[in-house]
Amino acid sequence: SPMAPFDLVIFGGTGDLAMRKLLPALLHRHVDGQIGPDSRIYGIARDERTDEAYRERVRDAVAPLAAADPRIAACLDEFLGLLHYRRLDLGSEAGWPEFAAELGDTPGRVRVFYLAVGPSLFANVADRLDGVGLAGGGTRVVVEKPIGKDGASAQVINEALGRVFHESQVYRIDHYLGKETVQNLTALRFGNALFEPLWKAEHIDHVQITVAETVGVEGRAAYYDKSGALRDMVQNHLLQLLCLVAMEPPASLAADAIRDEKLKVLRALRPIDGGNAGQLTVRGQYRAGAVGGQAVPGYLDELGAASNTETFVAIKAEVQNWRWAGVPFYLRTGKRLAQRMSEIVVTFRRVPHSIFGDPNDGHSSPLAPNKLVIRLQPDEGVKLWLMNKVPGPGGMRMREVAMDLSFAETFGGRQPDAYERLLMDVVRGNPMLFMRRDEVDAAWQWIDPIRAAWEAAHDAPKAYTAGGWGPSAAVALIERDGRTWHEDG
Ligand code: BG6
Repeated sequence: SPMAPFDLVIFGGTGDLAMRKLLPALLHRHVDGQIGPDSRIYGIARDERTDEAYRERVRDAVAPLAAADPRIAACLDEFLGLLHYRRLDLGSEAGWPEFAAELGDTPGRVRVFYLAVGPSLFANVADRLDGVGLAGGGTRVVVEKPIGKDGASAQVINEALGRVFHESQVYRIDHYLGKETVQNLTALRFGNALFEPLWKAEHIDHVQITVAETVGVEGRAAYYDKSGALRDMVQNHLLQLLCLVAMEPPASLAADAIRDEKLKVLRALRPIDGGNAGQLTVRGQYRAGAVGGQAVPGYLDELGAASNTETFVAIKAEVQNWRWAGVPFYLRTGKRLAQRMSEIVVTFRRVPHSIFGDPNDGHSSPLAPNKLVIRLQPDEGVKLWLMNKVPGPGGMRMREVAMDLSFAETFGGRQPDAYERLLMDVVRGNPMLFMRRDEVDAAWQWIDPIRAAWEAAHDAPKAYTAGGWGPSAAVALIERDGRTWHEDG
């Protein structure tokens, strides 16, 4: 069913995010009938361009989608008809009053401004909107990560937004929260009675969270080199995943009920600083190698300059509260790794005593611990690894076998992209899957001392060959504890 008509304005309307994610997501929502003919979508950028030219550009960007699906092809012109382009410059007042007049004074109509631009421009956009009366009650703003580069700069940005908008108008996107499999984490934990009694240090040995990518820095080296994997991935996506695994049961799905619980997790993270960063963290940078049989250059070659920016991070984290004390949360993420693969692995404790180890039996089958593997992408699904008897008359031979729930097989169809859900949530006014200001602050509070420790130590990131699993130090980080990174079997 269609949503009430709304206006969505994308600053950075010709940028990578708009073309690759936002407009395709809106197209899908339109095809499914959620966006009616009275809604308007504006792309904003600095150069001169007609509506027609903009529509053609978007048509090109979504051509593969239309080619793959006749439903999309059939709706495409109608969708493109919702699109408009306006030239606006943040450095000048020219055009802003006219744009405000065009949007009009439409009480009750939801108006979303999506700031798909660098964080240094957020305050600017907010002030311009305010200046022409576009910041009022019906307005919502969406800001992309990174929100700043550390706690102090995040504060400046959030305060600038806060001068113009009420916190309830600000939607801070972490697109991982919109992924179906990430939402399913909450469903799995709180929709089943099976896991919660075991979900604590007493029964869980450790947790692994991996977000591995095969891509390099693409065309984003200028941004990425100032950021690095810690800010680009850990501060937001990995910490949010950790929160969803570790949080206490919220009383409801109300946005603040969940965000309150996530915040407590962030605040309970064991601090990592100069004293322990050497033991608890590993940073890496890829060298030339091959990914999926394809030769790829090293990070420094792609950048064309010297740099100490990390493209890989592994961290042994701990949530210091009653539920989790002593349970390591091993986090790792990197670019140019062997495989695109994001997953959460919860490894349970071993049985206290094995009855299957009798050598007189002819076998002594070691028992692997149970594991719950939540595959976020690709091959979305959930596997529960259990010990089973191998059929046959030869005695109790034990083997680890997975109960395997594949999303594609079970639910069929296409997995909607995270942005589809998130954009519609903004229009609906549901902030559940967005980060509250205090969450962002708490995440930086944990990240900043790690960054500071690295800077103080002056050590270069450890080299790793593109197409592998990161520096050997990341393997050592977990093997020192007698554990190994999970490999899909
Ligand atoms: C973004 C990061 O937030 O997430 C990128 O800036 C990264 O560096 C991307 O590639 C990964 O997202 P996804 O949805 O492809 O896993």
